Amino acid sequence: MEDYLHMNKSNGEVRCKQPFVIGVSGGDASGKTTVCDMIIAQLRDQRVVLVNQDSFYVTLSDNSSKKIHEHNFDHPDAFDTELLLSCMEKLKVGQAVDIPTYDMKTHRRLAACKVNPSDIIILEGILVLHEPRVRALMNMKIFVDTDSDLRLARRIQRDIVERGRDVQAVLSQYAKFVKPGFEEFILPSKKYADIVIPRGADNEVAIDLIVQHIHTKLSQHDLCKIYPNIDVIHSTLQI
Ligand code: CTP
Repeated sequence: MEDYLHMNKSNGEVRCKQPFVIGVSGGDASGKTTVCDMIIAQLRDQRVVLVNQDSFYVTLSDNSSKKIHEHNFDHPDAFDTELLLSCMEKLKVGQAVDIPTYDMKTHRRLAACKVNPSDIIILEGILVLHEPRVRALMNMKIFVDTDSDLRLARRIQRDIVERGRDVQAVLSQYAKFVKPGFEEFILPSKKYADIVIPRGADNEVAIDLIVQHIHTKLSQHDLCKIYPNIDVIHSTLQI
């Protein structure tokens, strides 16, 4: 945390170096993870951490997990947004946090992983541009715009191979929750994006431009936030 805080000894003011926060949203199976991996690979010389909104899915009670096909994972209420906000706010002031991992096969949170602060934080997930308080943490907002037929084709393959589902279950979840959730929550959040990437991870030009912009912003050193004293940081963030 010391790397991120610099106190002015004459007036007690604390400058808090703010990491550059990038939000990456888009429909399910749109290629968000691949886009993030490509950005991270091109930012070789920077410390980057990737936070996935999936980590903040609420674990279902034993009773509800029996009715899994009736659960809506594409609604904002499926996520513990308060926990996500608290983790992101701590990372922003250079504090390490424990972030849960989530198992898509059992629909449960597993043990938490320690995530260290970094110069760049990428927050990825279907609904990261939906909630205003989460958007407010971001310096750059990206929407990965991939054709819905392509997303469905990828989803069928992925959910069967990686998430232990069958075709019938994938298609019925898609019709009942995924498509309506995309139309009601995800697509309307596209208007908040600074950059929309058509064709997702196939669009190397867009990814090159994004990485150039991140380099420019990082070199401008304009990401510091000033607090009157250290106690204000502690009380704001309940450290
Ligand atoms: N989901 C699910 N079962 C759960 C939790 C989530 O089927 N227990 C589904 C939700 O229906 C949601 C999707 O997971 O539509 C969100 O994951 P997605 O964004 O598709 O995963 P990524 O791998 O991040 O996608 P991308 O291909 O864009 O990288």
